[in-house]
Amino acid sequence: MDSKELVIPSHIAIIMDGNGRWATERGQLRLFGHRAGVKAVQTIVEAARSLGVRHLTLYAFSTENWQRPASEVSGLMALLQNYLKSELQRMLRNEIRLHCLGDAEQLPKDVRVILEETMAKTAHCTGMNLNLALNYGSRAEILRAVQTLARACEEKSLHWADIEEAHFVRELYSAPQPDPDLLIRTGGECRLSNFLLWQLSYAELYFTEVKWPDFGRDELIEAIRAYNARQRRFGRTGEQVQAGGQA
Ligand code: FPP
Repeated sequence: MDSKELVIPSHIAIIMDGNGRWATERGQLRLFGHRAGVKAVQTIVEAARSLGVRHLTLYAFSTENWQRPASEVSGLMALLQNYLKSELQRMLRNEIRLHCLGDAEQLPKDVRVILEETMAKTAHCTGMNLNLALNYGSRAEILRAVQTLARACEEKSLHWADIEEAHFVRELYSAPQPDPDLLIRTGGECRLSNFLLWQLSYAELYFTEVKWPDFGRDELIEAIRAYNARQRRFGRTGEQVQAGGQA
């Protein structure tokens, strides 16, 4: 199947794993791998946009990643800052709107400033949403939503028995964007690592041995090809889906 004939998932989420091992294999420090990882981010953002992906979510830094050696954490923050500085014009040209999923308050001030600036300057862009998960943890996101709803109940603006999925979803960092259709994890591990646990409920999962720095446009198309071979049933039978078309 030609890539032009593929159904492009509206929302792709990616766990970008394998930078450290990629560097070690080359006798280099882990930061060398992260630097190569930034290049892969640039390639994949561009590829996703040109393929027609509407929402791209990248797991760039988790709430657990603070436990890494201080030099790696500060190196990652510097890479992030440089990435945001260098990408603004390209984002504007390609109509890409930047969002942050996670608690940005805890990020170093210089990163927070450029992040907020880039989000504000790209707020009018409608080509593709680029969501960077930064200081993100899904359990923390869920707890935060629960606390907000609990407060609303305490203040009597909401009754506990009236809480619906829509109330909860509205409080997630990802609102109002739709859930991911396809989750890709590079680097050979097959786990979710506290990423979008609520939002990935019906996503198709794709795991590849390819380490993030080696993940390019061809590998993205391969993942989309695998997605096209899946049948999304959302709890229905295969026969029902065939009769009614894919949801
Ligand atoms: C996981 O690989 C990767 C990360 C924790 C950081 C991801 C960061 C980047 C791709 C670069 C910066 C991002 C942006 C958006 C500019 P790992 O270090 O856990 O690799 P390993 O499993 O091989 O050790």
